[in-house]
Amino acid sequence: MAQLKLPANSRMTEGKTWPAKGATGEVRRFRVYRWNPDDEANPVVDTYELDMDECGPMVLDALIKIKNEIDPTLTFRRSCREGICGSCAMNIDGTNTLACTKACSDVDGDVKIYPLPHMPVVKDLVPDLTHFYAQYASIKPWIQTQTPAPPDRERLQSPEDQSKINQPSACILCACCSTSCPSYWWNGDRYLGPAVLLQAYRWIVDSRDEATGDRLDALEDPFKLYRCHTIMNCTNTCPKGLNPAKAIAEIKKLMVARR
Ligand code: SF4
Ligand code: SF4
Ligand code: FES
Repeated sequence: MAQLKLPANSRMTEGKTWPAKGATGEVRRFRVYRWNPDDEANPVVDTYELDMDECGPMVLDALIKIKNEIDPTLTFRRSCREGICGSCAMNIDGTNTLACTKACSDVDGDVKIYPLPHMPVVKDLVPDLTHFYAQYASIKPWIQTQTPAPPDRERLQSPEDQSKINQPSACILCACCSTSCPSYWWNGDRYLGPAVLLQAYRWIVDSRDEATGDRLDALEDPFKLYRCHTIMNCTNTCPKGLNPAKAIAEIKKLMVARR
């Protein structure tokens, strides 16, 4: 299935344009969603032209250059710059991804940059992830045990058991998947969404955890789990190559198996 592509939003009002001055190399246009909560204005799309001979290769490099050298009011999140922290997730060229690992050369034409879709916006490219993080906390993302730990060593796990949590543990909670999921767009208040369900799965299949039954009980709900309709946008968009749709299917299988 093709990656989720958002339609070009022709209703967005044009904002300012900053032309490239004295460019000697290829000039690219970056069309960036702007919204400031401190004024009464509607969102606009600002256009920044950059000389690519003077800019790093990634979309995040372009945003940092714009902020440092052209428009310091442009607001976005970033930290690691190497695809580890998940904070630079945004919608680039119609696909949710990480700005620090998305090459400008992978985009044809203007580089269109919007915040993650269907989330409240704090400012410009910064989504409000408060609800997303509260949902993450709700699945109790920590090991739960009744039996005491061995006095002389860690709780051990076989390589086979460890391999079950390798993939879901690699999730960086960037929210690209959940914000590409139509079910999460429409029912995100109650549906947990693919990112949080992938993390629920990570703890359900952890052989050291002793709360598997409680974890499954907590997901036995018409909305929290069962709003997934296997549309697969989540897996197609994950910038870490993870498969939350498969994890959700595995949770559903475990639900059936214990009936
Ligand atoms: S599963 Fe992938 S897209 Fe979803 S939050 Fe984790 S890393 Fe991001
Ligand atoms: S597979 Fe499920 S979680 Fe993933 S995008 Fe589709 S409905 Fe959403
Ligand atoms: S800045 Fe950390 S993932 Fe992009």
